[in-house]
Amino acid sequence: MNNAINHIKNSIASGQPILQIVSYEEKRVENYMAKIAEQVLKTDNLLFWDINNGITENNQTVNQTQDPVQAIDYFMNKNTVGIIIFRDLNPLIRQSPEIIRKLREAYKKLKNSKKLIILLSPDDYFPDSIKKEIDIIHFDLPDYDELKNLFFKFLDSIEKSGRRINLDEKQKKTFIIAAQGLTLDEAYRAFMKAFQGKNSISIDLVSKIHLEKKQLILKEGVLEYYPHKFTMDDMGGLDNLKDWLKKRERAFSKEAKQFGLERPRGMLTMGISGCGKSLSSKIIASLWDLPLFRLDMNLVYSGMGGSPELAFSRALKTMDSVAPAILWIDEIESGITDKHTDSESSRILGYFLTWMQEHTSEIFIAATANRIDMLPAEILRRGRFDQIFFIDLPTRKEREEIFTIHLKDKGNDVSLFNIPQLAQITKGWSGSEIEQVIISGMYEAFNQNRKLNEDDLFVIFGNSVPLSTTMEEQIKKIRSWAHKRAVNASKDKEY
Ligand SMILES: Nc1ncnc2c1ncn2[C@@H]1O[C@H](COP(=O)(O)OP(=O)(O)OP(=O)(O)O)[C@@H](O)[C@H]1O
Ligand SMILES: [Mg+2]
Repeated sequence: MNNAINHIKNSIASGQPILQIVSYEEKRVENYMAKIAEQVLKTDNLLFWDINNGITENNQTVNQTQDPVQAIDYFMNKNTVGIIIFRDLNPLIRQSPEIIRKLREAYKKLKNSKKLIILLSPDDYFPDSIKKEIDIIHFDLPDYDELKNLFFKFLDSIEKSGRRINLDEKQKKTFIIAAQGLTLDEAYRAFMKAFQGKNSISIDLVSKIHLEKKQLILKEGVLEYYPHKFTMDDMGGLDNLKDWLKKRERAFSKEAKQFGLERPRGMLTMGISGCGKSLSSKIIASLWDLPLFRLDMNLVYSGMGGSPELAFSRALKTMDSVAPAILWIDEIESGITDKHTDSESSRILGYFLTWMQEHTSEIFIAATANRIDMLPAEILRRGRFDQIFFIDLPTRKEREEIFTIHLKDKGNDVSLFNIPQLAQITKGWSGSEIEQVIISGMYEAFNQNRKLNEDDLFVIFGNSVPLSTTMEEQIKKIRSWAHKRAVNASKDKEY
């Protein structure tokens, strides 16, 4: 942290007029900047800009400064030394040659003037044409060791007060990882809340730390926190995919890094509807014990979070700040595509690709796609996702597992059902269709005040047609696409 502050001071001392401070902690950075203004520039003249209010100076908004170009002009023409902080200007810089031009002008005019433009946002993606003029400073979150210190202090004081600590080394680590992405203050408060009034500290309290992160996320309208509801055991078949995920269980650990492994970036699942694409995204979170957030692209485009690009970039920045975590983007082709002709979606695509390439946070993307033909080739290029899985209709053995899971899950005695036979006659049925048949059968049985039996299921199978029959052509197409570009999620091959 002191590094960042020294860096800022040195930059100012050398006459550098434009600094990008990379942080999502606006308040914290702004407090530091007030101190630095006082110490280095001997002034308390601090101006703020954001897109809704324009410039705020001495708690008053300045008229007609929402336009960044006018705001920069206003600041350049002032006669006093001071600092202006632009909050989240970066997404606008990326799409406006006018702002870039103005910043370059400001760079020349303000060099060595003791007037300083601060760009404050959690990212530092700039067009090449302006990169040279901007000094980039990362105002980092506390690292693992800082959080570890904090956590161990807590444990110390808990032990001293005579309370018990039921955590082994691995579980302690889990707590520290859970707090990653929080500031020291936030982590302090999260531990405080989690441990308050507890006579013994055990691993189940880690969910409270996740909850704290969740609250951070809820401030973002387009992200949704998903509690861990599904585990590996809720998903039948898909053994290749399961193996792949299990092998990466410790992928975000320090040990993996020391071993020389690059952290995984994400996986894309595509395939036939109702066969477990969304489900497989959900189970990663519980398998890896990381919080899961769903990014809703429909909400991004709804305008409720501001312009779609702004809402999108803000959501990704928020994810950066709660890492390590899983980011689930369902039906990614509906929002991140090059098939719409509007410029908004092409900017979102561009932003996403840059972020995927450059972000250093421990975020694993679990994306699903239905219409692969809608996906831009850049997204599918090697190196973006670690793996692309194709999820086909379940094989016979997989259908057996799916029957067992859903019959059991809904309170039926599995030993009363001939599972192999059920699997045999449901060739071509998706996991979701099998589940629906069991539910319909149970309604039948419930109405007749008895338990579900095999005959109920046979009757329904006899009367219905699975989607795969009506969609034969499409499925063929999907398969031939996947054959060349994706790995089969199932190990088993016998339909
Ligand atoms: N392999 C499976 N094992 C157990 N249940 C399954 C499996 N596949 C699907 N299901 C059941 O079907 C439901 C729907 O599956 P899911 O949402 O994952 O489908 P999807 O592939 O995302 O389909 P869509 O393209 O329609 O969104 C799951 O919540 C689950 O109950
Ligand atoms: Mg789905």
